[in-house]
Amino acid sequence: MLKGKTVILGVCGSIAAYKICYLASALKKLHADVHVIMTKNATNFVNPITFETLTGNKCLVDTFDRNFEFNVEHVSLAKKADIFMVAPASANVIGKIANGICDDMLTTTLFAFNKIKLISPAMNTNMYNNPILQDNLLKLKKYGYQIISPAKGMLACGDEGVGKLPSEEILLDTIVYNLSNHDLKGKKILITAGATKEAIDPVRYITNNSSGKMGFSIANKAYLRGADVKVVSSTTNLKLYDGIELSNISSAKDMYLEIEKSYKDYDYIIMAAAVADYTPKNYVNNKIKKSDNDMSIELERTTDILSFLGKNKKDKQKIIGFSMETENLLENSKKKLEKKNADMICANSINGDKTGFKADTNQITLITKDEMVELPFDTKDNLADMILDKIIKL
Ligand code: CTP
Repeated sequence: MLKGKTVILGVCGSIAAYKICYLASALKKLHADVHVIMTKNATNFVNPITFETLTGNKCLVDTFDRNFEFNVEHVSLAKKADIFMVAPASANVIGKIANGICDDMLTTTLFAFNKIKLISPAMNTNMYNNPILQDNLLKLKKYGYQIISPAKGMLACGDEGVGKLPSEEILLDTIVYNLSNHDLKGKKILITAGATKEAIDPVRYITNNSSGKMGFSIANKAYLRGADVKVVSSTTNLKLYDGIELSNISSAKDMYLEIEKSYKDYDYIIMAAAVADYTPKNYVNNKIKKSDNDMSIELERTTDILSFLGKNKKDKQKIIGFSMETENLLENSKKKLEKKNADMICANSINGDKTGFKADTNQITLITKDEMVELPFDTKDNLADMILDKIIKL
């Protein structure tokens, strides 16, 4: 994902410095070239050898380190890197950067760096709320630095409050987001994903095998590509980037009501959810007790949301549906495209355990009124990008 990208991590003296070990390792796993620069104080918390082992690159501390291949290290590293994150950023280092003081390898390299600059402050709440620190952060914002808000919680000093370094995952996601190509910037995308749950009584419901993986992959990829993304889903166990709005619903009716109130605002609506076609006609308020007799549940049709969207499509809005069949996939999917007035149907194969509901891989054919394009068998993440590539050309 980050192949060919160079990341500099600037680490200041804080107990939270240990989190950057995980971050450096996670970035390496995504194939980034990772360089760590520590302040002298930071070396009291993590040994530079740890970062050298994790990144395969020399960890820089002293500006005048002669034991290395470059003569003017701070300038050459600043030139080749794509992004520079200072985390944890101490009040002292923030003060230095905001006032142009370059007295060590970290501050000097950052001063020579002119691409994406991220600052993640971490300190005691009173220090964080100090107006001098806040002024320095404002000044950095003015100069194009992105400030990552610290988290709230129990701090190393024992105080409760704001000032914690955000989780390693949030720091990683922020770097990945900033290094992505934002070709969907300015686009609003609504995505439904996963199964709906149709309640029979307070303990039972009817559902299906959809895992939500395909829809969540599309949502995450669209977000990384700069879109403003909302997900409507009953799925709760899959990762979704922090900047994505999630509406947690349960039934097909909930999903319809949620979509009906806001569908007009979106450029693209992708119905990846496996929406129930039928729901119990009468919900029973108390748990149904068994008897010796057989029983049946009367079902009634749900609203077909994709058809509703197809009928009420706004000017320039594109509606995309999914289709999953056990027989005559392409023929039936083409019929759905026409019947539901969709702009595209993504036809899913459910042959074997490498495609379909629970798998991380899939086989998809994209059907529009003019053509059928079979995408290569691939991971749902990669297919999500291919689907988005096609959607923006509709
Ligand atoms: N869909 C929907 N609302 C429903 C049912 C389905 O919006 N109540 C959407 C799904 O999200 C999907 C598409 O319709 O994008 C196709 O779903 P599918 O159930 O395969 O289509 P049907 O036309 O219901 O197929 P069948 O007649 O085989 O049930």
